[in-house]
Amino acid sequence: MSNRFLNKVVIVTGSGTGIGAATARRLAQEGGAVVLADRDEPSARTVCSEIVAAGGKALAFQVDIREPRQVEALFVFSRKEFGPAHVLINNAGLGAQKHFLDTPLETLRTMLDVNVVGTFLCAQAAARDMVKLGGGRIVNFASHSGLLGSSGRAAYAASKGGIIAMTRVMAIDLAQHSITVNAIAPGAIDVPRNRVQHTEERRNAWHRAIPLARYGEPQEVAAVALFLASDEASYLTGQTISVDGGFTAAGLRVKNL
Ligand SMILES: NC(=O)c1ccc[n+]([C@@H]2O[C@H](COP(=O)([O-])OP(=O)(O)OC[C@H]3O[C@@H](n4cnc5c(N)ncnc54)[C@H](O)[C@@H]3O)[C@@H](O)[C@H]2O)c1
Repeated sequence: MSNRFLNKVVIVTGSGTGIGAATARRLAQEGGAVVLADRDEPSARTVCSEIVAAGGKALAFQVDIREPRQVEALFVFSRKEFGPAHVLINNAGLGAQKHFLDTPLETLRTMLDVNVVGTFLCAQAAARDMVKLGGGRIVNFASHSGLLGSSGRAAYAASKGGIIAMTRVMAIDLAQHSITVNAIAPGAIDVPRNRVQHTEERRNAWHRAIPLARYGEPQEVAAVALFLASDEASYLTGQTISVDGGFTAAGLRVKNL
């Protein structure tokens, strides 16, 4: 394992489970000092203890990314304990699935609040520290739902499309400070939540639709997040990278034609 993140402070939101937890583990394995930020504190603490037991450097912090004061407290905590963050993995997010006609306004507001406002607040706080550091890396989390049409995802897609658009603008505004901003658009990833929520029928439908014919592993998304967060990705900014087994590339592919 390399030491790409030695002497780097990294904040990973939503790191109590799923892709965020996998990314936090990999960052710590590669030398990073990781702040695990999650609304679900016990989960963040569990992942944190695993990292520390394995010899890594990590601390857990409870935050609801929708709340400006809590986000500010997260960055104060990071500065005090490890120093200002060189990298933000802006991963925390929430999904919703409801036919457009049945989508309550409240669901749209919640999606925009967690996914767009939360991403905005964490990125802005991180970027203010990164300006003083003379550079940094921000990795936002979008979704294939922000790139392609689908059914029942009006609220979620609006929020993830918003993150993709915001990523481009952040990248342009922050380029003068040597801060790069990119987004990852995961496809169907085999996180614990999906293992519970996706029926066998739904899983099989995904397998048929994905050219690589399987769900992605959280570690496979983490690997791309680490690259975008590393020094190696120095000339890459404003992009959204799909990590989806070829799902968005497949377009109008019809099997057996
Ligand atoms: N897993 C997938 O198939 C998939 C597909 C497309 C996009 N994504 C996106 O990737 C990211 C990670 O996905 P995942 O499947 O690992 O998510 P997950 O649901 O497994 O975990 C999300 C984590 O974020 C935390 N969180 C939620 N709201 C929060 C808030 N307001 N403040 C702080 N923490 C909060 C949760 O407590 C949880 O620990 C999300 O942004 C998600 O939308 C995932």
